[in-house]
Amino acid sequence: MLGGMVELAVSKHPLVAHKISLLRAVETEPAQFRRLVGQLAVLLGFEACRDLPLKSQPIRTPMTETQGVRLQGRLALVPILRAGLGMVHALHELLPHAEVWHLGMARNETSLEPVQYYPLPQGRQAERCLVLDPMLATGGSAIAAIHRIKERGVPTIKFVGLLGAPEGVEALQKAHPDVPVLLGALDERLNQKGYILPGLGDAGDRQFGTV
Ligand code: PRP
Ligand code: URA
Repeated sequence: MLGGMVELAVSKHPLVAHKISLLRAVETEPAQFRRLVGQLAVLLGFEACRDLPLKSQPIRTPMTETQGVRLQGRLALVPILRAGLGMVHALHELLPHAEVWHLGMARNETSLEPVQYYPLPQGRQAERCLVLDPMLATGGSAIAAIHRIKERGVPTIKFVGLLGAPEGVEALQKAHPDVPVLLGALDERLNQKGYILPGLGDAGDRQFGTV
């Protein structure tokens, strides 16, 4: 909980803490950085899927008939480009039935306002969306992304990030109090340029070798 608003969950899992520390380290090269982003997306995404609905379905094992279950409902993964790309590939392996709705957002480096450059796919609908972005800094990109998803009438949305700043969490919860936020770590603050401290630098540049 932050500021008395809705659910904020910060993972306390030692595996997550270990991998976040590796991700932060300046000497971690892009290939290793990408692997860690993917692994962390699966660890956090697993938790974000805790309340996915199931329907029962009869199945036949090699031994007998029994009652099994299947995931129910349409789920969309919404990676915010570019940095969300590293999260979506790994999580899509875990959730192969999910649709992927890419959304291009870039922060204007002066105003820190998000600018959309690639829209959500036309005419798609889902019951649930997981918004994927490693970094929740001012919160502007996540807030704008969730507005776009809500315009589609998606009833259940969660935000899954690796690092968040308190400023971004507060802004997101204020703008979308109905959207749970799941993070790998909650950092100290933003610097004057809107970067997270201690943070990990630019998540897109570190994944794609453009630092
Ligand atoms: C980064 C990050 C988020 C955004 C977070 O993307 O991946 O999308 O900044 O900042 P905010 O919370 O202040 O909006 P960036 O705009 O740098 O684009 P990139 O992913 O292409 O590097
Ligand atoms: N975007 C990033 O990639 N890193 C930050 O610290 C803030 C925004």
